[in-house]
Amino acid sequence: MRLHVADHPLVTHKLSVLRDHETSSPVFRQLTEELVTLLAYEATRNVQVSPVKITTPVTETMGVKISEPRPLVVPILRAGLGMLEGMTKLVPTAEVGFLGMVRNEETLEPQTYAERLPDDLSDRQCFVLDPMLATGGSLGAAIDFLFARGAQDVTAICILAAPEGVEKIKAQVGDRDVTLVLGALDERLNEKGYIVPGLGDAGDRLYGTV
Ligand code: URA
Repeated sequence: MRLHVADHPLVTHKLSVLRDHETSSPVFRQLTEELVTLLAYEATRNVQVSPVKITTPVTETMGVKISEPRPLVVPILRAGLGMLEGMTKLVPTAEVGFLGMVRNEETLEPQTYAERLPDDLSDRQCFVLDPMLATGGSLGAAIDFLFARGAQDVTAICILAAPEGVEKIKAQVGDRDVTLVLGALDERLNEKGYIVPGLGDAGDRLYGTV
């Protein structure tokens, strides 16, 4: 597994405002979008491209275009939805699927409750959007789900992560082609499963408590 933690003053600045408990939902949504666009630049570093011939006003030359099949962006519901706009702004030709994960209260294992994805993900590069990598349960399940459908590689973009979640994903994915791109790697999880120092409940801060 590859791990990339952003190291850029713009990311740290935006994250600092995002973490502030006084930041309103509209500002939180706007900052999340901007942060994802910055992280998406790094996350798409290995996106597959094919050569194309282009004609400039001056001459013919070679360029590249994003290869087929197009990359697939998969926000994990609900909080991952807040990251979608920031990602599609940078990769407008990507296809978008959706995955809803919930914890089964009997087995305590994450399970899929909603899914809108192509049946066959062979040769697909997949980009999972999940703002908070806490225990790693739902992200790990989402990664397994995508590989089970044939995904070629999976890159997860998270705004914040706890070391516990990163270790869990690392152990779970083994030698599969997985990259984690993080805005920051925080200190730890608290006893309630919140990332510390964190930013609280990302879904609630984006959309309000429901
Ligand atoms: N999910 C969140 O929204 N926040 C956390 O701190 C942990 C999980």
